[in-house]
Amino acid sequence: SISDNTTILVLGASGDLAYKKTFPALFGLLKHQFLPHNVQIVGYARSKMEKEQFRERVTSKIKTSSEADKALVGKFKDMLHYVDGQYDKDESYKNLALEVEKLEQGTGKKNRLFYMALPPSVFIPVAKGLRENLYSTTGWNRVVVEKPFGKDLQSSNELGEALARFWKEEEIYRIDHYLGKEMVKNLIVLRFANVFLGSIWNRQFISNVQITFKEPFGTEGRGGYFDEFGIIRDVMQNHLLQVLTIVAMEKPVSLNAEDVRDEKVRVLKYINPLTVDDVLVGQYVKSADGTKPGYKDDKTVPPDSLCPTFAAAVFWINNDRWDGVPFILKCGKALNEAKVEIRIQFNDVAGNTLFPEIARNELVIRVQPDEAVYMKFMNKEPGLNSDPVISELELNYTKRYQSSRIPEAYEALILDVLRGDHQNFVRSDELEVAWKIFTPLLHQLEKQKVRPVPYEYGSRGPEELNDFVEMHGFARSNLPYHWQKS
Ligand code: BG6
Repeated sequence: SISDNTTILVLGASGDLAYKKTFPALFGLLKHQFLPHNVQIVGYARSKMEKEQFRERVTSKIKTSSEADKALVGKFKDMLHYVDGQYDKDESYKNLALEVEKLEQGTGKKNRLFYMALPPSVFIPVAKGLRENLYSTTGWNRVVVEKPFGKDLQSSNELGEALARFWKEEEIYRIDHYLGKEMVKNLIVLRFANVFLGSIWNRQFISNVQITFKEPFGTEGRGGYFDEFGIIRDVMQNHLLQVLTIVAMEKPVSLNAEDVRDEKVRVLKYINPLTVDDVLVGQYVKSADGTKPGYKDDKTVPPDSLCPTFAAAVFWINNDRWDGVPFILKCGKALNEAKVEIRIQFNDVAGNTLFPEIARNELVIRVQPDEAVYMKFMNKEPGLNSDPVISELELNYTKRYQSSRIPEAYEALILDVLRGDHQNFVRSDELEVAWKIFTPLLHQLEKQKVRPVPYEYGSRGPEELNDFVEMHGFARSNLPYHWQKS
């Protein structure tokens, strides 16, 4: 393929992201035979390390379940190399270039994929060093960058402009790993390949949309990083907004990356910037039983921190499809469960004179864990009784697709980079509109020193949440219903 003979350089190779996500994803691609021929993986970081030590460290995080897997780890190890150096010294990059050239045997085209698993403080010197010393003149060059892309509109634009001095937009792949998740990729199929969904996907039938992200653990151990950003920048401005965008965008002209991204940018432009009146922010305190720490019990967090670890916000999209339909995004750490889902609640049945109590239909797209798509609908209770009860039409992935494997988001995305497909990456103008929506709110929260409401570690979130979603149109039913993993 056109990606044969590729060197994958992982900058920040001794950091958490690289160990937990990048290298395991590369191994996953090797295992499922998606890596092109003749690939070398070169780790680069400041720490001094022998090649063997690096190979051990990288592969120690990789789960193996069979003898064949173990043999493959051996093969993967042989592909791994390590070079240490500084992020801001020209001679370090010259040395890296020499090492890379030694590994690139043969005379064919030489492609280079630069994966920046780095803190933003070194993005620019690294982008410069790579462009000036490691740019391949015979093959393609692609740079992968990870969030945080700045902290607000201005800092993001500055970062973007600095990056653009060295790399062209078509060479840049801004990762939002939610775009690599199976169920997020499925949204475009659900919406545009089904007449029964496509035709009710608008304000005439939909009352409100909720996109929810819940994690059962706090920020233990990464409080220092987290405190600078908070949950709105960590999860909502990127992951949840991306999901909203795909739920709400118009049908792209084609599945070509630019056509898809044009539609994403377009729908984002219809959204009002948020203000403090549109949000509920929370911060977790000790669990009810006292066994789990509060956010501020973390030594790396300032004792007077106002950093939100929970946020709910309402978005309004001012176009003819969505006018008047609230999109409620909710995300929180240290909650009662792990769950990411999209819940589309439909309108009440008009002129309902037949049944004293029915619930609204809801389409739930369960992103993780236990991928599923189900529609909650009213059904006659079987038997001699004739009351309607809530039931569901359900597609459960584990049951329905027993022989399929759901790839890790990072596997799917790195494969896209190798194929040169930008569809699931954030374009610079898209990032800019996303920041425009959030910047006024983020600045207000900081200036007005808005105090997050407390919620207990392991709880469902702030008590104020029920009122918040009901105030924005979500109708809670009193009929009994509990979704069960089938
Ligand atoms: C990251 C955030 O981008 O996404 C983390 O920085 C969060 O705070 C993580 O835990 C969630 O990703 P996933 O794939 O586990 O849902």
